[in-house]
This record gives sequence, C-alpha cells and structure tokens, in this order.
Amino acid sequence: MIFYYSGCGNSRYVAERLADSLQEPLHFIPETEPALALGEGEALGFVFPVYAWAPPHLVLDFIRRMQLDRRPSYLWFACTCGDEGDYTRQVFTRALRKAGLSLDACFCLKMPETYLGLPGFALDTAENERQKLEGVRADLPRISELIAKRTRQHFEMLRGSFPLTKTYLLQPLFYRFVISDRKFHVTEACIGCGRCEKGCPVHNIQLSDGKPVWQGKCIHCMACYHHCPTNAVQYGKITQGKGQYRGPEGSALRPQ
Ligand SMILES: Cc1cc2nc3c(=O)[nH]c(=O)nc-3n(C[C@H](O)[C@H](O)[C@H](O)COP(=O)(O)O)c2cc1C
Repeated sequence: MIFYYSGCGNSRYVAERLADSLQEPLHFIPETEPALALGEGEALGFVFPVYAWAPPHLVLDFIRRMQLDRRPSYLWFACTCGDEGDYTRQVFTRALRKAGLSLDACFCLKMPETYLGLPGFALDTAENERQKLEGVRADLPRISELIAKRTRQHFEMLRGSFPLTKTYLLQPLFYRFVISDRKFHVTEACIGCGRCEKGCPVHNIQLSDGKPVWQGKCIHCMACYHHCPTNAVQYGKITQGKGQYRGPEGSALRPQ
C-alpha cells in the first residue's frame, strides 16, 4: 500500500510509477482516511515532496492520525526535492516512532523546482529540468527493485550545507511566517476556468463570481500558480515573470 501527497505532480509521477512496478494500491493522502487495514506481510510506503527541508506537515499529521490494524512488514518512503532533503528522514522517523513504527528504507529524488514564493526562488532552466527528469526516470527501476527486495537499513538522502539549521530552525519559521495565501490573487488574464479550484490538493480555493478565492488553509504547494492555463494566478509580485512548471508529464493536477 502506498500513500502519497503531491502539489505539482512530481511526487505523483514517482508514486504512480512505483505503485505500478510494485503492483501496490495507491492512495492520495489528503483524501484518505487514516484507519488502514493491512494484509498479512504487507509493506507500507509513502511518497511526498520535501517542504522546507522536511516532510510536509500534512504527511506528518497523517502519520500521527494513522490507525493500523497490524504492523507493516516493511516501511519505506521516497521524497522528491528541488535540491536537498536534509533531515527529512529524521523528522519522518520521529513521527513514525511516536506511532510505534520504524523506517526500513528511504530514497530521495531530485526533481524540478516548484517553489517560487520567496524572493530569490526560481524555476530550473529547461535543460536542468530535462536532466532531473531523465535522472529520475533512470533511477526509478533501481529504487523499485530495492523496495521489492525489502532492503533494510537503506537510507538515501540528499543533504546540503547546514542541514540542522534548515530542518529544525528555518522550517518552523517557514511554516509560522511564510505560509499564507493572503498574497495569492489573479490578474485580468483569469478566464474563470476553475482549474485552480479543481487542482488545489487541500481544497483551499473556491470560485466566487468566476474568480478564485483562497480560503486560508493554504500549504504553499504552488499548484494553483503552476497550473493556471493563462498564468493569471500570482503570489504578490514575487511570482511575476517567473514562468510555470506543469509537472513531469505536462499536466499534474490532483486526481479528479
Ligand atoms: C512549499 C515548498 C517548499 C519546498 N521546500 C524545498 C526544500 O526545502 N528543499 C528542496 O530541495 N526543495 C523544496 N521544494 C521543492 C519541491 O520539494 C520539489 O519541487 C518537489 O519535487 C515538488 O513535488 P510535487 O510536484 O509533488 O509537489 C519546495 C517546494 C514547495 C512548494
């Protein structure tokens, strides 16, 4: 059984491919009840993006609320990130430990950058994007094989400089002071298509008079921004002229 969360489609791409090669059912975390019935000998996997050098809070909340009828025989996660996951494993492991579980393996895949909500953050160049996606495509069979073989004590993570500071100091500050939807708005290019409403993984957007209204429970995934067909969704002035990323296959909205 694989649980995943994805804002802009990178992690969904990875989750779908792993679910396919491992022949495992796939569940989208924001739309899944955390009471789970595991089959005997069944493994449990998670796929999610790195948000602020850690797993997204909604993934950690899911683990906190998770009720399992038995222990999984093998537990793994694969995270996707623009550059580095730092202490993502440690944060995830701590959440698991509180739930009485332990991690057997983890993987970290470098994928196109999606975060643009702070000054200085930008998309990858087209060439970088292509190289990252090619790298992921080439690496997925290896990861799938390691999971299928139930390789234990196998922990892969991309780590940058000052990982402790980023994961344990900057990450809480990011959630406290940066994540907010107050700056999201649409320009006159908005055609009222509702794609932002449909694509928001946490149902934080409602159309009112044909225009999106953000409801205050944003997680800054940037899906509304990247998937707007006319690039009308903007975040203050920070996203102006930064371009969009449509996901590994050009369309990456949450499952409809
Ligand atoms: C809110 C937010 C925070 C992010 N923080 C990090 C980070 O700390 N390190 C990193 O390498 N990438 C970071 N990224 C980039 C994403 O992890 C990366 O692009 C990921 O593949 C996006 O997955 P998704 O398309 O499934 O949402 C962040 C993206 C967002 C939206």
